[in-house]
Amino acid sequence: MCGIVGYVGPRAAVDVVMDGLRRLEYRGYDSAGVAIVAQGQVALAKKAGKIANLDKALAEQPLPTDGLGIGHTRWATHGAPNDVNAHPHLSADGRVALVHNGIIENFVQLRSELAADGITMTSETDTEVVAHLLGQAVAAGSGLGDAMRAVCLRLAGAFTLVAVDTDAPDLVVAARRNSPLVVGVGEGENFLASDVAAFLQHTREAIELGQDQVVEIRSDSVLVTTFDGKPAQVRPYHVDWDLSAAEKDGYDWFMRKEIYEQPKAVFDTLLGRRDSRGALILDEIRISEAELRLVDKIIVIACGTSFYAGLVAKYAIEHWTRIPCEVELASEFRYRDPIVGPTTLVVTISQSGETADTLMAIRHAREQRAKVLAICNTNGSTIPRESDAVIYTHAGPEVGVASTKGFLTQLVACYLLGLYLAQVRGSKFGDEITAIMEELEHIPAALELLLDDMQPVLDLAAEFAAEPSVLFLGRHVGYPVALEGALKLKELAYIHAEGFAAGELKHGPIALIENGLPVFVVVPPQGRDMLHDKVVSNIQEIRARGARTVVLAEEDDHEVDAVADVLIRLPKVSTLLQPLVATVPLQIFACELATRKGHDVDQPRNLAKSVTVE
Ligand code: M6R
Repeated sequence: MCGIVGYVGPRAAVDVVMDGLRRLEYRGYDSAGVAIVAQGQVALAKKAGKIANLDKALAEQPLPTDGLGIGHTRWATHGAPNDVNAHPHLSADGRVALVHNGIIENFVQLRSELAADGITMTSETDTEVVAHLLGQAVAAGSGLGDAMRAVCLRLAGAFTLVAVDTDAPDLVVAARRNSPLVVGVGEGENFLASDVAAFLQHTREAIELGQDQVVEIRSDSVLVTTFDGKPAQVRPYHVDWDLSAAEKDGYDWFMRKEIYEQPKAVFDTLLGRRDSRGALILDEIRISEAELRLVDKIIVIACGTSFYAGLVAKYAIEHWTRIPCEVELASEFRYRDPIVGPTTLVVTISQSGETADTLMAIRHAREQRAKVLAICNTNGSTIPRESDAVIYTHAGPEVGVASTKGFLTQLVACYLLGLYLAQVRGSKFGDEITAIMEELEHIPAALELLLDDMQPVLDLAAEFAAEPSVLFLGRHVGYPVALEGALKLKELAYIHAEGFAAGELKHGPIALIENGLPVFVVVPPQGRDMLHDKVVSNIQEIRARGARTVVLAEEDDHEVDAVADVLIRLPKVSTLLQPLVATVPLQIFACELATRKGHDVDQPRNLAKSVTVE
């Protein structure tokens, strides 16, 4: 997730900004930069890699210690993580410098308009178009605040923008839509940042900027307006967190914070995927439509949680495209002499983009001339670089070792891929694809509601904290959810947990059921097929043998009332999309249970975030 800092006041802006960037490092980034407006000019330094690289550049070529400044740590979305794509970006005449967090959905169209005006881009970023638009507006006579308001009205997507102008040496202007920004209010100085951690050592008084608002800070004033220039209500507050809590936005663990970021992560992953006519556009897919029409087999390869996302993908892809789809653990793939050829599409799923097992599987698949498409969260990492195509999930950096928002956004990317293949191959009508996309676009709001009501799950974790064993059951796409629920509990709470396909119970696992054993069951939505009723029968079978049943079922499903010892209600969604909501209570349960046991939730024992050895 990008980090943003802005400062105006009597201190050396370059020091305040650099210090703020260091305090935002925990958010994850791949390049960093700073711009200072002093003596009527923008002085700029930006470098790929860690802030240490930027420090080195500044030591070799120091920036002025007067003036005001903005800075940025970048988590690449559009364009590789290199010096040129690093922020800040400048307007064509060098007058405006800009940093940006988020995604400008309509940047391709804006770029063409700028090209028609004779402006050429120097970077591959979506951000640069905004720097040029601001540059054009101030050159035409607007003040920077007015320019920002006018430009924001032309932008689609999610963004926090912070800009400075050489002609306004006492002013930093920022705007916010669907991306975070806070104002730090000091005495004779003011700050802007992605979160309060960046300025906490200077001030604890903050203002949270609302949606679609612009803020103009000077050393002695803070002015907030809406995009259309009306005065806006401000929400000042006092920050009483310590620095470590501030980094986690007040949560006790990064994992818990990341669970609560899922509505936004899903929203961001869906951003910009449809054109004005509603057709899916996956512009990162560099495999031609003709080649995609020839695909006769899909093999999804991944590890751990990403593998479970792959299991869900199989149901969706086969249902929507009728292309046979296998799912394979990356560590097994190349050792079984798999049948792979030029018409096989290998889909790899990896949050980190560095998992060695997955990488080796890709190399093997490409040796067999298969096309490889990576679903990945980390721009510029090895797996997308070694693949023919990529769909980036826009979850932002995941710090907790246990994957949460990584998983949900992988599911979204898998659904997008399935629908895109269906569109290209004509296996679904356009209106059917649109209906599913619209349902997906409602998921962030459904997740918000679900997350607002997690107290019963927290209570359950308290009740089950001493249990030695927990089982998870599901059918169809509920089966991978059960596997994921069990994995979360194993890796965080270090207790025995197993996920089973509910229909398999009678073939063996039912022997494990004894009095008081907690069993979570994911119940499919009530529908036309028998799936729902079969799972309800499964619950009856285990309850009759003494299991304590924790039933996850959609909100108006009353057939489960009689078989559930504990009921967790899920928002109503269609069967294939249910993993997006059903997984969340299981994440919260594992996080809370591990917390109750006194474990380090973010760094569980024996585990690494990215497994870079086979
Ligand atoms: O970075 P990747 O998605 O390739 O990682 C795959 C697994 O190592 C990862 O999902 C692991 O299982 C997590 N600890 C799950 O929470």
